[in-house]
Amino acid sequence: MDNANVTRRDFLYVASAGASAVGAALALWPFIDQMNPAADTLALKEVEFDLSPIVAGQIVTIEWQKKPVFVRRRTPEEIKAAEETPMADLKDPQTDKDRVQKPEWLILVATCTHLGCVPSKEMKGEFGGWLCPCHGSHYDTSGRIRKGPAPKNLAVPPYQFLSDTKVLIGAAPQSGGAAPAQHHG
Ligand code: FES
Repeated sequence: MDNANVTRRDFLYVASAGASAVGAALALWPFIDQMNPAADTLALKEVEFDLSPIVAGQIVTIEWQKKPVFVRRRTPEEIKAAEETPMADLKDPQTDKDRVQKPEWLILVATCTHLGCVPSKEMKGEFGGWLCPCHGSHYDTSGRIRKGPAPKNLAVPPYQFLSDTKVLIGAAPQSGGAAPAQHHG
């Protein structure tokens, strides 16, 4: 794969997610202004995202509710590693199944649970997931904390698949869908 292309593509995702978020905020403003103050919590509640251009092994970052969110298309090896990890090895035990709705797609709030840095997409750390370079927290291919000072797994935002290639981040999962979308307690 061509690295320059990946970088450029990643940037385009970020730029287009940002652009639509700004559009949504501007469109909502007159209503927020005139109606009750609680309406502002509706702004940017959900972001629709097209998964189809993402290739296996690629991670893109989008913005949702002013937070970075990682969308990672996992390879079969990454899925296997995540599914086969013994619970006894985990600081914040949670099965991979409880963290994804479709094994190929891992969607996480990109905020380290230590002090809130954004883990690096380039440095995958000792467990093949992410390394947070601020103080050395290593996350695995399910975004679970495996080493370092972070106490919790990377949080899973609420999301819903609209189709095989479209996801709505911020929407409650459909009933009958797999994952409890929020990070557990
Ligand atoms: S903020 Fe990530 S390790 Fe400290």
